[in-house]
Formats: sequence, structure tokens, C-alpha cells
Amino acid sequence: EQWYSDDIAEVVVSAEQIKEKTAELAKQVAADYADRGEVLLVGVLKGAVMFMADFARALEHPVELEFMAVSSYGARATSSGVVRIMKDLDRDITGKHVIVVEDIVDSGLTLSWLLKYLTSRGPASLEVVALLRKPDAVKVDVPVKYIGFDIPNEFVVGYGLDYAERYRELPYVGLLRPEVYAR
Ligand code: PRP
Ligand code: MN
Ligand code: MG
Repeated sequence: EQWYSDDIAEVVVSAEQIKEKTAELAKQVAADYADRGEVLLVGVLKGAVMFMADFARALEHPVELEFMAVSSYGARATSSGVVRIMKDLDRDITGKHVIVVEDIVDSGLTLSWLLKYLTSRGPASLEVVALLRKPDAVKVDVPVKYIGFDIPNEFVVGYGLDYAERYRELPYVGLLRPEVYAR
């Protein structure tokens, strides 16, 4: 890619790989939910927007789209897993088949908190699909049924993932040059 090329050291997951994996995950999920009717996808803003959009279109199974925005501010410093809801669900999820859609599982704190929160809302079922996971960064083990790629514990951006709100629009996941966050 032309733009941002000075900031990205290398491509970690290419647009092509994302597309293939998304189709693969979608096929698996569609098969698993074939006899369950409509599924409610809960995308976690903002990182999950790209994957949410592509995954929903690849699924070939009826879905409803919901979004939550949470802030894990302070969570990393304290490991407390305290998460603040910036935008809650718009609707009741009781009795619904819910799948949380995440771009990445890093420490697992966001997802761990979110799953407890959603469980308390009484869904018929609850699973997670995450495009990326950093196994070496995990602090809390979270049951994630559908995982795209395990990646090294390095600073990656793109396809929804940001550094200081930038790079989300990149169509691939790339390794951010350390010079960028040392600036
Ligand atoms: C990022 C990412 C996940 C979360 C993973 O979101 O999109 O939601 O962190 O980290 P964890 O496993 O350590 O909790 P972030 O809080 O940066 O917000 P954003 O999606 O708006 O970028
Ligand atoms: Mn996020
Ligand atoms: Mg972020």
C-alpha cells in the first residue's frame, strides 16, 4: 500500500488472508447455527467495524447487527479488567443467539468483562468470533470459539486496529514501526 508505508514495517496479515479466513470462519459459523435461526452479532466499537462488516456479509445466514463501545482505560495498568460502557446495546438480547465480534483478543480483559456482562442479559447462547489473538499477551483466559489468526505479541495496526486512532482504515494488519510510537 502507498499511504502510511513509512509507518508500517511489514504486513502481518494481508488483505487476501483476511478475506480467506473471514470466509472460512463464516462458513463454520453458518454451519453451526444452521438450525438456530437469526443470530445477533454484537460488534465491539471501534476496532471491530471492518471485521464486523465483512464477516456479516460473508456469513450467508440471517443476522441482526448491534454495537457496543467499551473503554478498557485503566484496565491495562491495574489488570483489574475494569471496563466502562461508552455505548450500550440498543435492544434486549434475552433469548437471542449472540455472537460477539472482536478484531483482537490481547490481554483478554475487555472480552472477559464483556462476556460476563452479556451473560447477565440472558442470551439463548453466547459465543465469540475474533479475527486476531495474541496468545503471549493473554492475562485472562477467555473462551473464544472462533479465532482467525494467532499473531506475535507486537504492536499491530490496520483493519480496524488503531494506534492513537490512526491506521484503522488499512485493508491489512501491519506491524507498526517502533519509531512511530516513540515519536
Ligand atoms: C482494542 C481491541 C479490543 C481490545 C483488546 O480496543 O479492539 O477491543 O483492545 O484488548 P484486551 O484483550 O487487552 O482487552 P480498544 O480498547 O483499543 O478500543 P478500540 O476498539 O476503539 O480501538
Ligand atoms: Mn476494541
Ligand atoms: Mg484501540
